Amino acid sequence: MTINLADNDIASRVLLLARSATTAVPLREMERLRDHAASMPDVAAATFAFSEEGTPSLRTALHELVAAGASPIVIVPIILPTDPSFEVWLRRTVQRWQAADSVPWPEIRVTPFLGTQPLLQELLAAVIGSDQTRPLDNGKTTATEGSIVPAQKRRVLVCMGGPCNAAGAGVVWGHLRNEQKRLSLRTTGDGSMSAKTSCLGPCSLAPVLQVWPEGTLYGGVDESGVDRIIHSHLLGGEIVDDLAYLPTGSKQRLR
Ligand code: FES
Repeated sequence: MTINLADNDIASRVLLLARSATTAVPLREMERLRDHAASMPDVAAATFAFSEEGTPSLRTALHELVAAGASPIVIVPIILPTDPSFEVWLRRTVQRWQAADSVPWPEIRVTPFLGTQPLLQELLAAVIGSDQTRPLDNGKTTATEGSIVPAQKRRVLVCMGGPCNAAGAGVVWGHLRNEQKRLSLRTTGDGSMSAKTSCLGPCSLAPVLQVWPEGTLYGGVDESGVDRIIHSHLLGGEIVDDLAYLPTGSKQRLR
């Protein structure tokens, strides 16, 4: 499949954007795609990032490209299917990071979604007709070994309902999970685990997360909010008052 960069008169820095990867196999797949993109004639360099869970995160990869003076940066969402709200989220999120940065950002472009490209039909035909297909039932099923019941006392629920998703819950989730891994939050302090959930109720406060056992609801959370909740609430037991919303019984909006 060809990524058409013909509109750019200078070689682009391509950022392949996938949703998440937490194990080595999808990371290797992204490395292969990155190497393939880097070999294209109009591409000066290629990298990859994840909009949700995975390293590097979109924020990290973009900041590295900006710091390296890359211009233009072309984001290629290799996400199927792609919700139209994804591009809205992407634009708003990049604008927010851009506004918070002290250095000017280069032009950032985004390619059309892969699902809308006619070449996808050829690709589908190629894989469906491929002699590399294999039966799924030729592997042995291993007996379950049982599970350890978690001892962690804190739970963070990240709302992935529609309004929260459109407001960037994916990046909140990804940042939380990346930090959970980096800071060993499962075994630090009281021990924390996290989970995605459907609508938690106060959709106007999106993106929303809730920390148990207190049941504290946090609204309007972004990556820096996650950092504060980790250090103050998960590790210190102190609620972050300016992000927390108490059950007052009356309707509340983001402050
Ligand atoms: S969708 Fe997140 S609180 Fe309703």
